[in-house]
Amino acid sequence: MCGIIGYIGEDASNIAVSSLKKLEYRGYDSSGIATILNNKIEITKCVGEIANLEKALAPTPCTIAIAHTRWATHGKATKENAHPHQNKEKTLALVHNGIIENFEQLKKQYNLKPTSQTDTEIAALVISKQPQANNLAKLISACKQFVGSYAFALIDKNQPSTIYLAKQKSPLFVATNKNSCLASSDPICFCGKYKNYYTLADNEFCVMKKGELLFFNKNQKQIKKKPQNVGGFENSANKNHYAFFAEKEVNQTPEVAEKIIKNYSQTNYLKNIDAEFLKNINQIHLIGCGTAYHACLMGASYLEKKLAIPASAHIASEYIYSKSPNKNTLCIFLSQSGETADTILSLKKAKQNRAKTLAIVNVPYSTIAKQCNITLPCFAGAEIAVISTKAYTSMLCVLKILSSHISKVITNKKQINCVPSSLKNITKKSINSFPGLNKLKKLVLENEKIIFLGKNEDYITAQEASLKLKEITYINSIALPSGELKHGSLALVDSKTLAIFISTNPKTHQKNLSSASEIKARGGKVAMLTNLELSKADRKKVDYVYSFAKTPASLSSIASIIPLQKLAISVCIAKGLNPDKPRNLAKSVTVE
Ligand code: G6P
Repeated sequence: MCGIIGYIGEDASNIAVSSLKKLEYRGYDSSGIATILNNKIEITKCVGEIANLEKALAPTPCTIAIAHTRWATHGKATKENAHPHQNKEKTLALVHNGIIENFEQLKKQYNLKPTSQTDTEIAALVISKQPQANNLAKLISACKQFVGSYAFALIDKNQPSTIYLAKQKSPLFVATNKNSCLASSDPICFCGKYKNYYTLADNEFCVMKKGELLFFNKNQKQIKKKPQNVGGFENSANKNHYAFFAEKEVNQTPEVAEKIIKNYSQTNYLKNIDAEFLKNINQIHLIGCGTAYHACLMGASYLEKKLAIPASAHIASEYIYSKSPNKNTLCIFLSQSGETADTILSLKKAKQNRAKTLAIVNVPYSTIAKQCNITLPCFAGAEIAVISTKAYTSMLCVLKILSSHISKVITNKKQINCVPSSLKNITKKSINSFPGLNKLKKLVLENEKIIFLGKNEDYITAQEASLKLKEITYINSIALPSGELKHGSLALVDSKTLAIFISTNPKTHQKNLSSASEIKARGGKVAMLTNLELSKADRKKVDYVYSFAKTPASLSSIASIIPLQKLAISVCIAKGLNPDKPRNLAKSVTVE
């Protein structure tokens, strides 16, 4: 959700913009940059993708820049609302990731007359109004008055080689070498350029000068921080031969499955989930947002099948205000980015209530990965497209391994092998065995209403398939448990309706076929995605059958989503849209 960059060094504006491009997954409705030339702040802003900013940027020999890519929260995606924002005297420029929740109140209190609708301009004006003599003191003083979240980078026209940084809730990282300093919302920007980096904690400040990083606490006392190694981040801003990251990423699923099998077989990531850790656990909560929430639903199903402990899935933004975990609760947090604000707040609540915490997270250096008792990596590698594909299936693979492991610990059955080695082949077959994709794509494009249906785990897959389609094609689709159709939504069905059933469980197959008949009888079209055999009689109950590779029943939920992810991407591309950057969305949602 918004990305910020601060850079000091040669060719600052170009380097800041190329770094900013790596943060484009955080938002891309507008962007901007500020540099200092001859003691004057020069600002360039553009609506739309960062490529527009790149074109608009005049070549300047500057050695300092702050830059921003925006996902609008307050005010439309216009040039006026794009960052950087300035104080009235135009001596300062500020970029911000986060939300200043009390900005209306501050506006009144300081009698401010902003030119934009943003909370960030209010922050710039408030910083400028602080009476302290130096910018660090002004920034600290203003931050004490801000309620909400922020990662700030601030420059002053009279200090052409200093950037001031502040952090509260939104991520912020800094790195330096002999020739330059870089501040970024994601350490991925440090790859290949810096050896080490530092993570700012909440209420910490940094003064970045050429080749020097000074850290301060909120009392303006200088503090020491330990560096972390940059090595190990995958620098994958590369689409290989694919036109879009989304296509590349879904096709990487077997590779990811292979990595998971290898890593979880060779390294005992699960060793701390032992009898002591699980002692007295009498309920399991799985918490996440969006696609990660669907992984939570699937995880709860996997766990309940194996254990006598109740397991339930929760949407993080709901969990914060409803559930109360306790010291006998195991809270499992699922997140690709590890930075989703609602999930972080749920984690905070779980920790306050002394629940045991476990993370299944893809980004290893993220807030959630660092703050849980135990973290299980997903090994999906960088996922750039806003829609989650390989990260979702990687979460399911890790949840499968985890549920077997917990069952093994609780039942003390040492011989259970928790890592299903067939995962790679299953995902590979599923990627390759969907000859009907083009036909199904056409059907989706020809119809007005798309309903995904299934039962139990197939219903969870239906929910994820519907989300994928909505996110990148803007086609209005819903997901239903097959049996629920007749309780209301059947009223939607007409000749412009396409129902897509997911049917992978022999026990519920006939029930799905009955619901299919109900739709056909009302003039709707029925497609069924299945890895089960259909008799001649059953075949007549549906219009189109799409078979995908046979899988052991316990792994069908991992195989069946892949064709549906591919379907959404192909419909999106057929509509001339970009599956990597759906409108209105961002990959990492760091605001509540
Ligand atoms: C955003 C993304 C979704 C993602 C959700 C949760 O809404 O667009 O694709 O599923 O955030 O993100 P997380 O990083 O916590 O998995």
